[in-house]
Amino acid sequence: MATVLHQPSAVSLERIKSVVGPKGWTTDPADMAPLLLEERGHYRGRAALLVRPASTAEVAEVVRICAETGTPVVPQGGNTGMMGGATPFEHGGEVLLSLSRMNRIRAIDPLNYTMTAEAGCVLANLQKAADDADRLFPLSLGAEGTCQIGGNLSTNAGGVQVLRYGMARDLVLGLEVVLPDGRVLEGLRGLRKDNTGYDLKQLFLGAEGTLGIITAAVLKLFPRPRENETAFLAVRDPAAAIELLARIRSGTGDAVTAFELISRTALGMVLRHIPGTSDPLAEPHQWYVLVECASGDSGGGLRDALERALAGALEAGLILDATLAASAQQSKAMWRLRDSITEAQKHEGGSIKHDVSVPVSSVATFIAEASTAVERAVPGIRPVAFGHVGDGNIHFNVSQPGSEPREGAPLAAFLARWEEVNRVVHDIVARMNGSISAEHGIGRRKVGELAHYKSPIEIELMQTLKRTLDPKNIMNPGKVVP
Ligand code: FAD
Ligand code: MLT
Ligand code: ZN
Repeated sequence: MATVLHQPSAVSLERIKSVVGPKGWTTDPADMAPLLLEERGHYRGRAALLVRPASTAEVAEVVRICAETGTPVVPQGGNTGMMGGATPFEHGGEVLLSLSRMNRIRAIDPLNYTMTAEAGCVLANLQKAADDADRLFPLSLGAEGTCQIGGNLSTNAGGVQVLRYGMARDLVLGLEVVLPDGRVLEGLRGLRKDNTGYDLKQLFLGAEGTLGIITAAVLKLFPRPRENETAFLAVRDPAAAIELLARIRSGTGDAVTAFELISRTALGMVLRHIPGTSDPLAEPHQWYVLVECASGDSGGGLRDALERALAGALEAGLILDATLAASAQQSKAMWRLRDSITEAQKHEGGSIKHDVSVPVSSVATFIAEASTAVERAVPGIRPVAFGHVGDGNIHFNVSQPGSEPREGAPLAAFLARWEEVNRVVHDIVARMNGSISAEHGIGRRKVGELAHYKSPIEIELMQTLKRTLDPKNIMNPGKVVP
């Protein structure tokens, strides 16, 4: 846990309050409580003050006072992050800065295919605004109704359409950032080409609030697809899923936008715990894929191409059963099965998470090796493998043995093995030249793992950057950087 040398003085807190005005701060424990609790309840922090600035100028002034008084600041978006990065430490000496009032879309430029949005805009609202302008903002993830674009960019979020459109980082043309000394880096340019020296915005994308506070961004938009096809497929095994991906990509002219692997264990949890869900196929199978394709052409050619590719895969024994969504509603129901896995797993007792990536061609070997290894380490443990395998990103979230009580001492004893189980899985990932954090970031949770797996020179460069930009170490200290 990061230590704080002194609690912020009453005088500095009063100065911050006066910057944001009565609507912009609270110390009411009830108001603060949900923002002090990490997504799965693993961390419960404390804060000297919760501030909700309404403008970039207010953020800048708050940070300037924090820098002057040595007060640490924790930026927070929708608080859906999975690494504890948005939760203040337990010592209570930090200011929690929520971007939620900065939720204006400043501009949409359909001809430039860009949208300029403030950090506190909820992702789903940006998707809708783009759609209303007959454009697509493709970032999409299970938490999209709550997470904010500032949080998405700060974690360099992935989600389900990375295969076609890239990570959050790839969707940004310009950024406005409040630096740790309170100055504003004004970079809200909507340029596709700009080679004027270092690409500074990249420093803040994926920095999880440790180098500055993102207040606004110029985001890339895309043509809105005219035809979408969704298929729920039972596949022979993960190796078949990967072969299938290659086939569908070439068979549809690379129209695949999402390709998600779902194990039966994961689907079973969804069917057990999420009301209104039902098995989309007649018989249960061990492995499934949810695939989505999109095309700018509305002539029906995409469905034909997908059906042809699936027929070939069925013949080759890669697919065991398949259903294509006949309506937008059916597609939504299929996606609900996928998006509910994380929620459903919460009902099955403790779960130790691994958000890892390996080369796409190594996904099947990884799942097999990691499953054997964790079962050896904790007999009865239930591997729940699912996720964005089109990007080589597997959520390998292992659940407590089914035979154990899901609360009290057995739950605590299982979760106490978090680091040990992580090490088993991450060693396999490292051997495959993979990543121990594909899309969720490092936050507080994985600082030790980062220190263990990154090379000394990478760590040294990270520390040098942090010291250079944030010499007083006030910007989300104790997170990300070992
Ligand atoms: P927060 O949780 O509030 O913050 C995350 C980090 O960013 C913290 O370190 C915080 O300090 C920092 N931060 C927040 N806002 C700013 C800002 N304006 N400036 C600087 N720093 C800031 N993630 C994926 O990548 N892919 C997925 O598919 C995915 N699916 C999810 C599904 C569910 C059901 C849930 C609950 C989460 C999922 N996540 C996923 C994780 C999470 O939603 C993302 O990491 C998201 O991008 C976090 O956004 P947020 O606004 O909630 O950020
Ligand atoms: C998802 O893709 O649903 C989340 O990123 C996975 C998780 O909960 O680990
Ligand atoms: Zn994910």
